[in-house]
Amino acid sequence: GSVALAQKDKQLSEKRIREVMHAAYEKYRNTTGGANASYIPYLADIDPKLYGIAICTADGQVYEVGDTKFEFGIESISKVFVLALAMRDRGAKAIEDSIGVNATGMPFNSVMAVELNPRRAVNPLVNAGAMATNSFIPAASSAEKWTKIDDIIAKFAGRRLSVIEQLYASETATNQHNRAIAWLLYSYGRFYGDISESVDLYTRACSYGSHTRDLAIMAGTLANNGVNPVTKEAVIDEALCPKILATMMTEGFYDSTGGWVYHTGLPGKSGVGGGIIAIVPGKLAIAAFSPPLDHAGNSVKALKTLEYIVEELRLNLL
Ligand code: DON
Repeated sequence: GSVALAQKDKQLSEKRIREVMHAAYEKYRNTTGGANASYIPYLADIDPKLYGIAICTADGQVYEVGDTKFEFGIESISKVFVLALAMRDRGAKAIEDSIGVNATGMPFNSVMAVELNPRRAVNPLVNAGAMATNSFIPAASSAEKWTKIDDIIAKFAGRRLSVIEQLYASETATNQHNRAIAWLLYSYGRFYGDISESVDLYTRACSYGSHTRDLAIMAGTLANNGVNPVTKEAVIDEALCPKILATMMTEGFYDSTGGWVYHTGLPGKSGVGGGIIAIVPGKLAIAAFSPPLDHAGNSVKALKTLEYIVEELRLNLL
């Protein structure tokens, strides 16, 4: 009957997911081009050949191929989940008013993005906005704020992630530009907490080691209306998911976000560690990892991989 048919459909789609994921892996495994991030010394030394793909469905199936258990710097992908925390504690309206939600159309570390906007409003997914978002999380102390971040990241991932201390040290030694941006925002009344503390916690969150499988599950939680599809734990209110996804749709790939949306029609986010996530609400999330980046700071191979999978599985929302 219809139950058997539905079952068959499901199996077909599982089979199709595996097929397409493996086809992407074979198609792009020898792709070259791009270069590891060099402005953070730790990232420059990661093996550029590492490559992983993971898919997490809204009903909690996780599919993996390649180096999906290699721990790399989560980097800017952390911005999405720290935003979720700030939104949970402050509300979606406060994020719109106090940080900003429009596209900057500029690189992730742009000073001009702050300067040219009359309200100094940026977006929670660029460095300026992510540091301001961090400063906006209510907490009595730096330790308490870090615990909040660590707890929500653990809930999204379904396991506790650890900071790669070497990466954190490497970023801390080289984050003068970010500190300057934080001071600039502060001068305009667009920073909401202690500057060195917020920049430090932002840097620490960027230094989490995550593997491709973690990212798929974290993104899968956003695909599943805020409930971790693997652990079944409710992480954030479902009403916040479309707001978080909207910021990804406008700014997930910085000045190349338009190109990403043009090809995939999906909310996504990249990090200079080489990871990228994409979310298909209600269905699934895809994560891919490969260290070499394009000019905008997005993994060349992970981008191609996701575009291919989205196309083959007909996941474009638009
Ligand atoms: O603050 C930075 O520059 C890094 N910790 C993160 C930047 C990043 O991942 C931009 N993404 N593509």
